[in-house]
This record gives sequence, C-alpha cells and structure tokens, in this order.
Amino acid sequence: MTTQPLLEVTNLTVDLLTAQTAVRPVDGVSYSLNRRETLAVVGESGSGKTVMNFAPLGLAPTGVVADVAGSIRFDGMELVGAGEEGLRTLRGKSVGFIFQDPMSALNPARTIGRQIAEMAEYHLSMTARAAEERALDLIRLVGISDPSARLRQYPHELSGGLRQRVMIAIAVAAEPKLLIADEPTTALDVTVQAQILRLLKEIQAKLEMAMVLITHDMGVVASAADRVLVMYAGRNVETGPVDKVLVSPRHPYTMGLIDAIPSRSDPVGAPFRGLPGMPPVLSAPIPGCAFEPRCPHAVPACRNSRPKLERTVDAAIFAACPVLNTSCKERLG
Ligand SMILES: Nc1ncnc2c1ncn2[C@@H]1O[C@H](COP(=O)(O)OP(=O)(O)OP(=O)(O)O)[C@@H](O)[C@H]1O
Ligand SMILES: [Mg+2]
Repeated sequence: MTTQPLLEVTNLTVDLLTAQTAVRPVDGVSYSLNRRETLAVVGESGSGKTVMNFAPLGLAPTGVVADVAGSIRFDGMELVGAGEEGLRTLRGKSVGFIFQDPMSALNPARTIGRQIAEMAEYHLSMTARAAEERALDLIRLVGISDPSARLRQYPHELSGGLRQRVMIAIAVAAEPKLLIADEPTTALDVTVQAQILRLLKEIQAKLEMAMVLITHDMGVVASAADRVLVMYAGRNVETGPVDKVLVSPRHPYTMGLIDAIPSRSDPVGAPFRGLPGMPPVLSAPIPGCAFEPRCPHAVPACRNSRPKLERTVDAAIFAACPVLNTSCKERLG
C-alpha cells in the first residue's frame, strides 16, 4: 500500500476576479491529507475555507473567474492546470462533495431517487435499472427508513436532517476517495447535527474515505477530525493534530477561537465571548501578519514581514507566529 498522502497541496493561491474587483481569498496555503484521515478546516466567515477547497476543482463561486496557482497533487494527479476536462472526471467520482447549502445543491424538480441514481449512471456507467438499485442501497446506507417511498419524494418533502442524508448519499454514490464536506451540520438543529456527524464518520470508515470537514464549530473539530488547519484571511496560520491544537494552540488567532467557545462553567447571562475586531479586506495585499491588528501579542515587526508557518515547540504543531514560537534571541538576531 502506498504511503504517499492522498492530497498534497503546496503554496496554493486563488485569486477571484469579477468585473469590478479582484480578491485573493487563498494566499499561499500548504497542507496534506492521508488516506482515511479527516482534516478539519476552520476559520471565521470569509476566511477562504470554501474557495480553497472548491475553486481548484473547477467549482468557483458563480459569476467570478478563479485564477488558481501552486500545486495540488491528488492521488498522483496534478490538479492545477488540469483543465475542465481533467477536473470533470474527478468531481463526484474520486472526490465527493457536500455543499454548504443543501437546499440549493438539490434539484427541487426531481425526485430524490432520480438524483441519486443519476450519480451512479454517470460516474459508475450503470444502467438505469442498476442505478435504481444502487440508489436504494445508498438510501439505506445513510440510514433513511422506508427507502422505496423516500426515493419517490422531492427535496421539499424532506426535513433538513433527511435532506442532508440525501446529500451524503449523492456525495458517496461513486465511493470517492475523498469527501469534502462544507459545513455539513451548520444548518441543522443540535440533536440532528450529532446524528449527521456520526453518520459521516461511519460512512467514512466503511468506504475508507479521507475527509475534509469545513466548519466554524470547534465542537465538530474536536469530535470528528484527526488534524486541523486554521485559516485566517486566506492563510494557514496553524495546523496540527486536533488533540494537541485544541489543548495548547500556538497561534493567537487559534487561541482566540478556542477562548470564544462558550463553556458550561460560564455564569448564566454572561456576555458571549468573541474575538474583537474584524478580519481584513482581501483586495489589498497584506505585507505582514494578517491577524496583527487584532492580536494581543503583536509587536511592530508583525506589520512588516509575513510570518511563515513553522514547527513550534510542540513538534506536531506548525504555526505562523514567530512572536509566540521563537525564542527572544532568535527573534532579535
Ligand atoms: N461570489 C463571490 N464574489 C466575489 N468574492 C467572493 C465570492 N465568494 C467568495 N468571495 C471572496 O472569497 C472570500 C472567501 O470566501 P469563502 O466563501 O471561501 O469563505 P468561507 O471561509 O467559506 O466563509 P463561510 O464560513 O461564510 O462559508 C470572501 O471573503 C470573499 O472575499
Ligand atoms: Mg464557506
């Protein structure tokens, strides 16, 4: 069995160009993902989580042109520069997706059964009859009872939790090697969130998939991921094993995110904790650390030079903050 990572991303940059503006929502990100592993991608709204994972696969936001640079090796294939033809063969087949908004990702005018069967027909070259059987199996796999009746229903007839199960069935119809799940539990109520997360983990184990789990919920990170990548303003500011990063984060932004998690010991009526300030606008280049204006540990040098992602005192964690992770002597000399 190969020990090569399934996904190796090196210095990925994405520029989004519209008629009016150009922004850089992904700015030099590097990471890798092993087979069967789960990587959580976290960060505030607008930090580039969705664009980083979808634009390189030819799924840029509508109405914008994405200029992707750097390298993404997926299962031995280079995706940057692969062109639409090359990417189309991957999408839905080797890479499955759960989109951030499940309602807009489902076709309201087609039955659930048709939408699942279409994936099997297209990606697995199945006949219509075989694809219908496959749709039944998939509906069972995602834990939906009375599968035959459900297959005849339309998306609006299902609850949010059932719709998300259908989205999972569609995403894994071709047994992808990688599943990219974009906020798969955010739109659901708390009890359903836990069920969907458990289901995703069960299916991941059964199909031996790797998973990128995009979320802003540290609870989801803690319960479902092996490693975490923290994004700030399109940059990877910290990455490492979840059990280490959540306990002893090495970047002030990650510390802030963790401090903002409400705790059971908070007194009733205590104000919500949050990170003061706002993320920067991404249309102007940021020469220094993007988090500097909000950072309680910032020193003047943070404004001038961009910190590199470097190994920290905890050898498993990499962080882009020399102020907290380099000895004074090294910093000055
Ligand atoms: N349709 C668009 N047109 C122009 N710029 C866009 C568009 N979609 C995203 N962007 C830019 O890309 C940046 C990153 O967006 P992205 O959707 O990846 O953020 P995100 O981290 O997934 O946020 P969220 O948590 O809200 O889903 C945005 O801050 C914005 O500058
Ligand atoms: Mg998003």
